[in-house]
Amino acid sequence: MCGIVGYIGNKKACPILLEGLRQLEYRGYDSAGLSVIDGERLRTIKSVGRVQELENKIGERNISGEIGIAHTRWATHGKPSDKNSHPHNDCQNNISVVHNGIIENYRELKEFLIKKKHKFSSETDSEVVAHLVEEFNKKVDFKTAVLEALKLIKGTYGLAIISSREPDKIIVARNGSPLVLGIGKGEYIIASDTSAIVRHTDKVIYFDDGEVAEIKKDGFTVTNIKNKSVKKDVTILDWTVERTQKEGFDHFMLKEIFEQPEAILDSIRGRYISAKGAAKLGGIENVIARIREAEKIMIVACGTARLAGMVGACMLEEYAGIATEVDYAHEFRYRKSVIDEKTVLIAISQSGETADTLAAVREAKEKGALTLGIVNVVGSTIARETDAGVYTHSGPEIAVASTKAFTSQLAVMALITVLFGRQRQMSLVTGQRIIKELERIPSKIKQILAEDKEILKIAKKYHKYKNFAYLGRKYNHPIAFEGAIKLKELTYLHAEGFASGEMKHGPIAMIDENFPCVFVAPSDSVYEKNFSGIQEIKARKGKVIAIATRGDKEIAKVADDVIYIPKTLEMLTPILAVIPLQLFAYHMAVLNKKDVDKPRNLAKSVTVE
Ligand code: AGP
Repeated sequence: MCGIVGYIGNKKACPILLEGLRQLEYRGYDSAGLSVIDGERLRTIKSVGRVQELENKIGERNISGEIGIAHTRWATHGKPSDKNSHPHNDCQNNISVVHNGIIENYRELKEFLIKKKHKFSSETDSEVVAHLVEEFNKKVDFKTAVLEALKLIKGTYGLAIISSREPDKIIVARNGSPLVLGIGKGEYIIASDTSAIVRHTDKVIYFDDGEVAEIKKDGFTVTNIKNKSVKKDVTILDWTVERTQKEGFDHFMLKEIFEQPEAILDSIRGRYISAKGAAKLGGIENVIARIREAEKIMIVACGTARLAGMVGACMLEEYAGIATEVDYAHEFRYRKSVIDEKTVLIAISQSGETADTLAAVREAKEKGALTLGIVNVVGSTIARETDAGVYTHSGPEIAVASTKAFTSQLAVMALITVLFGRQRQMSLVTGQRIIKELERIPSKIKQILAEDKEILKIAKKYHKYKNFAYLGRKYNHPIAFEGAIKLKELTYLHAEGFASGEMKHGPIAMIDENFPCVFVAPSDSVYEKNFSGIQEIKARKGKVIAIATRGDKEIAKVADDVIYIPKTLEMLTPILAVIPLQLFAYHMAVLNKKDVDKPRNLAKSVTVE
């Protein structure tokens, strides 16, 4: 999720572009850059790091010119670096592009363009756009060249493109990534969201997928890719900048909970072949032979990431038939673990900078293990130091409490399970069934999100309680622990996760009417055990909030409250079951007047040991 800005008008573009980038920095902040048409010349300046680094690099240079584009990056392809930051230009340095999204077919486009003698200077997918437009622009005008290029591009984009050969216009296009046009007096601002616009004007147009606009100082036209004109309505904004960055949500955490359908789509997009029931993970293709020979998998992580690893371990043992262990990274690194060159160590980390997880990777490498990273932040230390890996593509996760990164980790673990499984005994049919159901998960998450008001009602009923137990079994044992972490870190209340079978071995002594239990009890292979566990809690006057599969009427007869989730494969229920727990914890925190996005004592990334 990057941030793009464009300006065309009667003022100097450079300061306006920089201000816009600062407003969009929350969308991505590993590198930034801008291009301005200064007279006849295209001037491009870019730098790794925050927008301030770019500003320092520009320094006292006088960059005049009243048309420009800019970008603040959240890397998806190619590590953060000067050359990988946007804008990307064509061979002649006439055309400049900023892009937000993922181009699925960039490899084949790049091969086609290299055969046409185009010279690439970055590792990114986005650079192909500049050279594709350049190729077509040899024969047709700039706008038509862009339309022709878009017809070949598969994937998602929010694009802004300028050309020094037609310096009176900016061409923008949207497909899957947001793009907004601000209508000022004799000037236009284009941006990924209104936080970069609202200071200049309150009149905006929201582009829809498949739309292309040509914007000049004196007006703009909107068409579809076939150049058929499209009528657009003007919206009058009434949001503050901060509210815009949260896209109308009260907190980044709630926004990120609601982004999970798109985040999962981005995590799995282009990473499977349905007909073959196979996963296609480019980031670990080069070590596939060692994966095939692996005798054991060791998963290490911390906090929520480790719980994703616990779910993944269930998947790998059941569907790939490979012995899998999970450990806290901070425990693994100090104990005498039995690993060697036949071990695959999987390190899971949203930030890719967690010190203990990084240390565990280094320890495993010392012992000859193959190390894989499941990381969200491209180019982060764990991503760079592991032998191979898979980026989760969740986009920036701003809230300290991890939500979309967690469910994306689960989705990637499911793909890794298919990859490992199909190397071993997993049948074509099983692989196809998992992939088919994984494709349905985003829409099933949306169904749960639609019930948010019901979850708020339940939170209102319980928000004064001080102690909670979270219970689950097998695939949802880790989800019980994740629900407890969410409640603890957001409300500071006491919440403890248990394997539900463990209750009668001590913990149930705590249960009474003041100790509610959240019970993750979908209709799965351990449902009956969970059902009797709920009855045991009820027999001791405990209150039960059950997470159950839609259509299960029996559970409503015993639980005090039920939150339903759609049916799915047992191995994928954790992705759905965690959503109500995220929303419950969120509402409990708001009702208890806590700082949802920045809970006390916590940091987004624990880079100290
Ligand atoms: C999750 O809600 C917590 N903020 C925390 O447990 C987090 O998952 C843990 O610190 C690991 O972080 P990482 O994924 O960046 O390595």
